[in-house]
Amino acid sequence: MGERTEGSNSLGKDERLFLLLLWGSLLFGVVSSSPTPRKLFGEITSPNYPKPYPNNNISTWDITVPKGFVVKLNFWQFDLQPSESCLSDYIKVRKDLGQFCGQLGSATGNHPGVRDFVSKGNQMRLMFHSDFSNKENGTLIPYKGFLAYYQAVGKYESTTPCRRGAQGYSSPGECRGALGCIPNRQRPQDCSQTCMCGKPDKPITGIQRIIGGSTAPPGSFPWQAKTHIFGLGGGALLGDRWILTATGGRMSLAEVAKKIDVFLGHTEVNKIHELGNHPVRNVSVHPDYDPDDENNFNGDIALIELQDPVPLGPNLLPICLPDASNSTFYANSYMGYVSGFGVEKNVLADRLKYVSLPVGDQRSCKKWLQGKEVNGKPMVFSENMFCAGSPSVGKDICQGDSGSVFTVKDSESERWIATGIVSWGIGCHKSYGFYTKVINYLDWIKEITGM
Ligand SMILES: *[C@@H]1O[C@H](CO)[C@@H](O)[C@H](O)[C@H]1NC(C)=O
Ligand SMILES: *[C@@H]1O[C@H](CO)[C@@H](O)[C@H](O)[C@H]1NC(C)=O
Ligand SMILES: *[C@@H]1O[C@H](CO)[C@@H](O)[C@H](O)[C@H]1NC(C)=O
Ligand SMILES: *[C@@H]1O[C@H](CO)[C@@H](O)[C@H](O)[C@H]1NC(C)=O
Repeated sequence: MGERTEGSNSLGKDERLFLLLLWGSLLFGVVSSSPTPRKLFGEITSPNYPKPYPNNNISTWDITVPKGFVVKLNFWQFDLQPSESCLSDYIKVRKDLGQFCGQLGSATGNHPGVRDFVSKGNQMRLMFHSDFSNKENGTLIPYKGFLAYYQAVGKYESTTPCRRGAQGYSSPGECRGALGCIPNRQRPQDCSQTCMCGKPDKPITGIQRIIGGSTAPPGSFPWQAKTHIFGLGGGALLGDRWILTATGGRMSLAEVAKKIDVFLGHTEVNKIHELGNHPVRNVSVHPDYDPDDENNFNGDIALIELQDPVPLGPNLLPICLPDASNSTFYANSYMGYVSGFGVEKNVLADRLKYVSLPVGDQRSCKKWLQGKEVNGKPMVFSENMFCAGSPSVGKDICQGDSGSVFTVKDSESERWIATGIVSWGIGCHKSYGFYTKVINYLDWIKEITGM
């Protein structure tokens, strides 16, 4: 695993940059077309909705979401002719989730109410049926039909992201650190997010000791991005369209937005390239970052906006962001993980690796930095940074690729949260690494992403 700033006894910044560029150009070019997105949410309505539905109609919908997810559906409008056992007009939710008809508050029929319908697998079938006439006592009654929304939700979701209030729908109640969630583009004003962040399919479990450079199993760090900006770097998926990363060094990222390559969705280098490059729409670098000051990485945070939302699945999921009001995860010795495709012993890894590191004691890190000057000047250790690692335990612990994230597992919500971004370090062995403190930038991230 590589890190950004080396001490005077190893490769200089420019030499490293050159090597990384070389490696980058070797890897680049194995690019194929983008995968086809699978839909993560959508709406289903009765025929002619919001006008009354026709007589004698049978319609069927098959909802399919990516593997590893289930379909969650609820009805936002429901007005079908009531009948005993719902045999005249009805909608059937397969399999075995029920047959419904009627109007809210009606004594006959079987109104679905506000409940969530959740499929067992990644498919759900809806069947609508209307009979010859919607007449009651000789008068024609126009029934409006139904409007349903569905979303893909992670298999591990136990709470629904949206709660209904008495007069409709309130905003998400259960999405802590919701910035890592998927905005619902269908109804941005309402129930606006699906919380599928920070829930890897195959999480790393039970490790509370320092590990140097283990191979990451598929699905363990599904938010990991591999970037080529000025060389090899990392990043993490936020929502389905943003990459959280570091600024990338001395040049302005915005100037090179068109040249940035973003790869996602696999732990093997050649496979991730086969999946294709994700074109970049825009790049935002934090205004506090000064690319000309080599001794100060304050504000080392950037967001890459992808042209298109990515197709989520077990190997590609967003990370959560921390809760603004809770700094528990920055406590001394809190264990975190850094994954990356970085350089290991001067060889480029062919698989995603990870290290497990404790958050450092900020005073010890400050002390450790004393006397370690870069270009004759001390490094700035600002309040927007934190350190991690443990010089005494040394071995092969390096700090991952620049831009990769430092993640922790919140044992309460069982979600993984990005608390830091790999920013800078001095040397690789027996050292601390320095990270951008994500919790200090939540407002900026919100402003840029609109999430
Ligand atoms: C049901 O209604 C839709 C929309 O009007 C129409 O396209 C479809 O052909 C109808 N199906 C039947 C079986 O009448
Ligand atoms: C239809 O007739 C029944 C019984 O006479 C009555 O209870 C019901 O309210 C009537 N429905 C309408 C829509 O007029
Ligand atoms: C690109 O990002 C910059 C910086 O955040 C922003 O000012 C600009 O409006 C964005 N451009 C587009 C096309 O979204
Ligand atoms: C902060 O988060 C931790 C871990 O989820 C939790 O145990 C703690 O209660 C939270 N503290 C506050 C003040 O919310």
